[in-house]
Amino acid sequence: DGDVYKYYADGDWKMSSSGKTVSVTNPTTGKPIYKVTACTQDEINKVFQSAKAAQKLWAKTPLYKRAEMLHKVSVIMKEHKSPLADCLVKEVAKPAKDAVTEVVRSGDLIDYTAEEGIRIMSEGKFLVSDPFPGNERNKLCLSSKVPLGVILAIPPFNYPINLSVSKIGPALITGNSVVIKPPTQGAVSTIHMMHCFHLAGFPKGLISCVTIKVSELGDFLTTHPAVNCISFTGGCDTGIAISKKANMIPLQMELGGKDTMLVLDDADVESAAVNIMKGGFAFSGQRCTAVKVVLAMESIADALVSKVNAKVAKLSVGPPENDCDIVPVVSESSANFIEGLVMDAKQKGAKLCQEWKREGNLIWPLLIDHVKPDMRIAWEEPFGPVIPVLRIKTAEEGINHCNSSRYGLQGCVFTKDVNKAMLVSDAMETGTVQINAAPARGPDHFPFQGIRDSGIGSQGVTNSINMMTKIKTTVINLP
Ligand code: G3P
Repeated sequence: DGDVYKYYADGDWKMSSSGKTVSVTNPTTGKPIYKVTACTQDEINKVFQSAKAAQKLWAKTPLYKRAEMLHKVSVIMKEHKSPLADCLVKEVAKPAKDAVTEVVRSGDLIDYTAEEGIRIMSEGKFLVSDPFPGNERNKLCLSSKVPLGVILAIPPFNYPINLSVSKIGPALITGNSVVIKPPTQGAVSTIHMMHCFHLAGFPKGLISCVTIKVSELGDFLTTHPAVNCISFTGGCDTGIAISKKANMIPLQMELGGKDTMLVLDDADVESAAVNIMKGGFAFSGQRCTAVKVVLAMESIADALVSKVNAKVAKLSVGPPENDCDIVPVVSESSANFIEGLVMDAKQKGAKLCQEWKREGNLIWPLLIDHVKPDMRIAWEEPFGPVIPVLRIKTAEEGINHCNSSRYGLQGCVFTKDVNKAMLVSDAMETGTVQINAAPARGPDHFPFQGIRDSGIGSQGVTNSINMMTKIKTTVINLP
């Protein structure tokens, strides 16, 4: 553990000549646990040079062979599920069982991507010219999908493996090369995952993994002229900053969310409560798709709050190694931010249903009732095990609250009336609306997108495959 982890370039593990390192902290102990090397500009330039060269050859590698390689890496990753999951537990405090699930899900995602990619990339279009006025039938147009080039993949800390492969898989099957910049918390999980790609034997330079000091080289990386597409998942402000500086290249971004749960007066209240628990408290609320605000109709609000409170009392709180329900949040600054939101709500008169309790980065689960729109937590994303409840008089009031948010990732509505559910779904301005279930990204082939500050473009296996290609046409001009 005292060793410094290397970066991966040209099919090899290398120590940066910078002599600098980036430290990874164990969220549970608050102590440094790993160190990764911090690459220099020259090293990054070389990585991109290799990525460009390798991509040209990879794009010519038959599609079925590209798919075979991806299936191979999926098998290897599943074989490595224990050590990979162990990294996730240590680096991001993911509960042990969830960590294994993330790895297995990632292998499945790669397999599905290989198969879907074969189907999508094998199809093209054929057009003739004479339907358009003024043309004879002397032009034949063939169009197909071709890769973009070099994809820069930047995954977040909360799913360092799954949200890496959701970018790498679509990039590789479509004939692109990939440079990945891991999150600091999650860097070693990503590095270990990269080792699985190494073992699968992908061509040298096709996939690289660069670890950097983001404050020094973040902009250098994201504005590098060799980058043909950025796929980023992470914080809103970072995403917006990247998009403002991007060099007119396609961007795929999944940023924050303030995923709304709207509970109407005819809802199955028990089911809504169960969904608040798993949708709001899983991984201590550190999911873009976590339930981040509950808007409950006054008629059912008391019943809902008391059901959730009874369930919160049963949650286990502790270290991820023990597979506790509630685990430490990723960093001290994150815990401080969450505490700030809670104290703001408390001062402004909200009711804390449980006692506020924090030890280091470990925050006890908390439901905050009677939250009002003047409180920060009504609008801001805690990314922690803290859920605000606003009581509303009408569904419209709830929809207005949801649509006034800077975020628009997912929302959900609980009602037994399918017609009402459809009307709410139409009115809710979010990338996805779930009916009678908490927000969730998966299954991983479903479209996944945020509007407003929640993101650009759509993800999910199929959409990512399409997004990482461009259309190329060839026109045959007959005499
Ligand atoms: O926060 C990342 C987002 O992609 C959540 O995914 O699978 O937990 O809904 P999931």
